Amino acid sequence: MAERSDPGLEGQIAVVTGGASGIGRAAVDLLEAAGARVFVADLNESDGPGEFICTDVTVDAAIEALSETVLERAGAPHVLVNAAGWDEIRPFVESDFEFIERIVRINLLGCMKVTRCLLPAMLEAGRGKVVNVASDAGRVGSSGETAYASAKGGVIAFTKSVARETARGPLHVNCVCPGPTDTPLFASLPEKLRGALERAIPFRRLARPEEVAEAILFFASRRSDYVTGQVMSVSGGLTMAG
Ligand SMILES: NC(=O)c1ccc[n+]([C@@H]2O[C@H](COP(=O)([O-])OP(=O)(O)OC[C@H]3O[C@@H](n4cnc5c(N)ncnc54)[C@H](O)[C@@H]3O)[C@@H](O)[C@H]2O)c1
Repeated sequence: MAERSDPGLEGQIAVVTGGASGIGRAAVDLLEAAGARVFVADLNESDGPGEFICTDVTVDAAIEALSETVLERAGAPHVLVNAAGWDEIRPFVESDFEFIERIVRINLLGCMKVTRCLLPAMLEAGRGKVVNVASDAGRVGSSGETAYASAKGGVIAFTKSVARETARGPLHVNCVCPGPTDTPLFASLPEKLRGALERAIPFRRLARPEEVAEAILFFASRRSDYVTGQVMSVSGGLTMAG
């Protein structure tokens, strides 16, 4: 029994974008606790665990530098968690091009480009688990979050396609869709919206970041060795997408 419950991450190399705060940080905590060596790629330095590599996922050179640093210091990562993300509530008709592009660059292109840079080494190593953090907004849509939902829907489609392309590796590529989660990002939303969202959740409370991180850990670990291209909502029942 003890062996079955071991996530098998001892001594593994993990990279977590957005690992300085919220869900990403909770994932760093769980990965480290499971014995992984974790690189935190974020704009802001974390006071939490992990080896920090200052990275802006909207800057190509920074993504390339991140990839080079990880490969140089530790070799091909076993686990890549794309958790960096950002959002601001804004009606679509009031969103200018700059805002739309910023949302897509952080949430979709950042995830695609970081994965693109680290994937060859993972393929060469013949193994690797990529876990993308999208959002239920990308599964069911969300009023006031059209650009964000579009980007996150892209992350979901990206997950499935890369999973197909790399399954022979064998690589595993899966996606976690948090619902409203108690993080600094959620706290930045208007109070009225936060209250309405919380009341709409069947469990009647926000997710704790570590509850979302448990799903990330599942996809990062050997517990999901026969799972790829899948999307898991962790949303207290708010969405039940087919
Ligand atoms: N909190 C929620 O309710 C919720 C719901 C659905 C999805 N999500 C998604 O979960 C993920 C984590 O969000 P969170 O709530 O923990 O937010 P958070 O703001 O607490 O953490 C996000 C982290 O990403 C980093 N980041 C932002 N832009 C970056 C960039 N350009 N380059 C590198 N790092 C960058 C931030 O510095 C921060 O540390 C995001 O992808 C978010 O879209 C969150």
